[in-house]
Amino acid sequence: MSARVLRRPLLVRTREELERELESLRGDGERRALVPTMGSLHPGHLSLMDRARELADVLVASVFVNPLQFGPGEDLERYPRELDRDFRLAGERGVDLLFAPDVEVMYPDGHPRVRMDPGPLGDRLCGRFRPGHFQGVLSVVVKLFGMIRPDVAVFGRKDFQQAVLIRRAVLDLELGVEIEVAPLVREPDGLAMSSRNRYLTDEGRRQAVGLYRGLAAARDAYRDGDVSGSVLVERVRAVASEHSGLQLQYVQVVDPVTLEARNEAGSDSVLAAAGFVDDVRLIDNLVLGAGEDDPRCALLE
Ligand code: PAF
Repeated sequence: MSARVLRRPLLVRTREELERELESLRGDGERRALVPTMGSLHPGHLSLMDRARELADVLVASVFVNPLQFGPGEDLERYPRELDRDFRLAGERGVDLLFAPDVEVMYPDGHPRVRMDPGPLGDRLCGRFRPGHFQGVLSVVVKLFGMIRPDVAVFGRKDFQQAVLIRRAVLDLELGVEIEVAPLVREPDGLAMSSRNRYLTDEGRRQAVGLYRGLAAARDAYRDGDVSGSVLVERVRAVASEHSGLQLQYVQVVDPVTLEARNEAGSDSVLAAAGFVDDVRLIDNLVLGAGEDDPRCALLE
């Protein structure tokens, strides 16, 4: 990729500004990357931007808290919004254009009447508990693809099911965007980084790491020869139960492509879990046969 000197990140809030600035940034044959986010950037997001910079010449990031992907009673209203800070961090990461539209800019006619159907993959794992969530995610991601027309888009593997669905949508609907899935970024004690972690109380934060500890214990058991899906799930539950503030929502060993439950785990199987601490929903996952820094951990093919 040609080296690009950072002049500024440009903040654009409207469609007209976006169109104009995209046009002015598009050089001959330059590749454009997109990192879609809901803002409140943390090191996980910043690692997506770093990866995107390696893959393209022009880096666009978006900050949009998408109402379509929040169900009734979820945290849409209190979801953290801190655009000034996001803007600064994005600039430090070499973002050329930060698109941060209001809801009225994204959905000028109200919520869209036509939406993306995630199909059966959207009903598994988190989808069982968050009806409509992946419909909302796919709808906004496809809309962002249409507005920004990236060559490549980068997503984090913490949102494993989301990444699988976006890959699937691109393949099934020939959207013509490369999808890169970047590794999950963890706190030093293993907790997966998430914008929602800031809602945790100090005690909740101590309990929250139980989700990762459970998954890691099951991965150790797998390495020691336990391949039964139910035994591995039980292992997660046993370790999680030592963290009294953590309520598991689901734990499953699944196929990385179909997301179907596996009775017998293989090295590519994904162990995925969700739970609540202090009413904060946490998700996490591991590839059973891969270390966290193993590139297979980021691959979902
Ligand atoms: O992963 C997220 O932050 C969101 O689901 C995304 C992809 C930005 C769509 O709103």
